[in-house]
Amino acid sequence: MKTLNTIKAMREALSPYRQANKRIALVPTMGNLHAGHLSLVEEALKQADIVVTTIFVNPMQFGVNEDLDSYPRTLDADKQKLASAGNHFLLTPSVTEVYPNGMNQTTVHVPGCTECLCGEKRPGHFDGVSTVVTKLFNMIQPDVAVFGKKDYQQLTTIRKMVVDLCFPIEIIGVETGREADDLAMSSRNGYLSGPERTKAPALYQALNQVRSTLLAGETSYSKMLNTAQQSLDEAGFIADYLEIRDADTLETVSKNSARLVILGAAFMGKTRLIDNLTVELNLSKV
Ligand code: PAF
Repeated sequence: MKTLNTIKAMREALSPYRQANKRIALVPTMGNLHAGHLSLVEEALKQADIVVTTIFVNPMQFGVNEDLDSYPRTLDADKQKLASAGNHFLLTPSVTEVYPNGMNQTTVHVPGCTECLCGEKRPGHFDGVSTVVTKLFNMIQPDVAVFGKKDYQQLTTIRKMVVDLCFPIEIIGVETGREADDLAMSSRNGYLSGPERTKAPALYQALNQVRSTLLAGETSYSKMLNTAQQSLDEAGFIADYLEIRDADTLETVSKNSARLVILGAAFMGKTRLIDNLTVELNLSKV
């Protein structure tokens, strides 16, 4: 695996593959890689001839009181994991390489799906994500880009952005990697203390409880969400949001929506965890 840290070197390295019409996949990450990230690389290897993973802790997507400074940076271990996974190129650009004009720069705002949920709780977050992903798309010019479904709102936003801005890039979503107790894999799980880690799967369990109740035919969303909220409270979570939305647009659901997503964000101590589960309803039976 080759590691590069400038856009120029990256473009030069990819040029022969592009000329040979090789299919190029991008896996954008912020590092501190776990098995969930490696499943993105695995999918990218199925989708393309050449896989480029990027590691960049993007300052633009962190709020002022968020964990930008303490975000885990584990480059040496990440490189070993990527090399063993068969990744071809790693791009690790500096902040000035990505933001040559500082933060006073053009931004990408994707309207509609970014105002709710994490967008409401973390103002500016998705502008930071859309802007940096646009930059990564322009740097690498991939044929396909792979993202995790754990960041469901992020994936929805990227899918819309690609259509809105006519990027000729196929977007692939990969199922959330889970620990043995179903906790969604996340770099932020490392912030949890031992007792917090033991309680953390309650977020998945609360979402799964809503999913099972929906599939059993319950139609009162508020009743289901209140019950889930109580389970979160009992486990020691402070919920940020718990919602049922349209799985394609993230709009609030109507009784005719068949493809739903249940999304939750909640604090366990100081750590904010997110998770989601999709549900396909057979409306003719409901
Ligand atoms: O999901 C992430 O790790 C980040 O939001 C991304 C897509 C790499 C953009 O910084």
